[in-house]
Amino acid sequence: MSTAEVVLVTGGGSGIGGGLASAFHARGHQVIVVGHRRERVEAVAARHPGMCWQVADVADAEEVAALAEEVGCRWPGLTTVINNAGVQHLFDFAASGPLDAAELGREIDVNLKGVIHVANAMLPLLKTQPRSRLVNVGSGLGYVPLAAAPVYSATKAGVHSFTLALRRQLRDSPVQVVELIPPVVATDLHRHLEETPPMAMDLDAFVKAALAGLDAGRDEVVVGLAKVLRTLSRAAPSLGMKIVNQ
Ligand SMILES: NC(=O)c1ccc[n+]([C@@H]2O[C@H](COP(=O)([O-])OP(=O)(O)OC[C@H]3O[C@@H](n4cnc5c(N)ncnc54)[C@H](OP(=O)(O)O)[C@@H]3O)[C@@H](O)[C@H]2O)c1
Repeated sequence: MSTAEVVLVTGGGSGIGGGLASAFHARGHQVIVVGHRRERVEAVAARHPGMCWQVADVADAEEVAALAEEVGCRWPGLTTVINNAGVQHLFDFAASGPLDAAELGREIDVNLKGVIHVANAMLPLLKTQPRSRLVNVGSGLGYVPLAAAPVYSATKAGVHSFTLALRRQLRDSPVQVVELIPPVVATDLHRHLEETPPMAMDLDAFVKAALAGLDAGRDEVVVGLAKVLRTLSRAAPSLGMKIVNQ
C-alpha cells in the first residue's frame, strides 16, 4: 500500500482495533476510529493528535450507510477499512428453557451482519482508489468452535466464508480482501470471564504480527495459535475440538 493511507477502523475504541489504529497513526497515516460508544473512540482519538472519530452501530445498516457518506465527503481517499467491531457472549443451549432470542440475534447482528454492512457501504469508496484493502477480522474460533461461545464461533465461521466469497468477486478490482485471524488476545472481549485466558497473546505482540502480515500483502493474516486451529480444523477436527474445549 502507498505511504499516504486513510485507514478506518471499526471497534477502534479499544482492544485490537485500538491497537491497530494506534500503530497506523504512528506510521503517519490518517486514521478514523469508529465505535459504538462515543466516549471510547473520542478518548482514543484524543490520545493521538490528528486521529478522527465517528460513532456508528455496525449492526444498523442505516447508520453504516450514513457513516460511509460522511467518510466519502471528508476522506474520499479512503484506502483501508479494518472491519473489526465485534462482541462475544457465552450461551448455554444445554440449559433448560429457551435463551434470550434478542441477545442471540444481537451477536449475529454485530459480528456477521455488521461486517457485511460495513463491506457493503465502504466498497464503493475503496473501489475508487488505485489500490485499497478491506480487512475483515475473523477468529481462530471460526475454524474450531468454542462450545461455550456457539453463536460467536458461528459468526466468525460466517465471516470467513463471506470473506472468501468477497475476495473471489473482487478479484479483478483494486480492492484486496483480507481476513485477519487472531488467536486469543488479551482484550476486553473476555470481560465475561473471571480472568483473561492464560494462553492469551499480548496485544502489542499481536498488533506487530498483524501489521507484518498486512505489510507482506497476505490475503489471510493468521496470527499465533490461530494457525494451529486452522491446521487442526482441516487435518484433525476432533482433536481441534478437544483442545479448544478442554
Ligand atoms: N481478543 C480476542 O481474543 C479475539 C480473538 C479473535 C478475534 N477477535 C476479534 O477481534 C475484534 C476486536 O475484539 P477485541 O478483542 O479488540 O475486543 P474489544 O476490546 O471488546 O473490542 C471490540 C470493539 O468493538 C466495538 N463494538 C462492539 N459492538 C459494536 C457495534 N455494534 N458497533 C460498533 N462498534 C462496536 C466496541 O466498541 P464499543 O465499546 O464502543 O461498543 C469495541 O471497541 C472482534 O471482532 C473480535 O471478535 C478477538
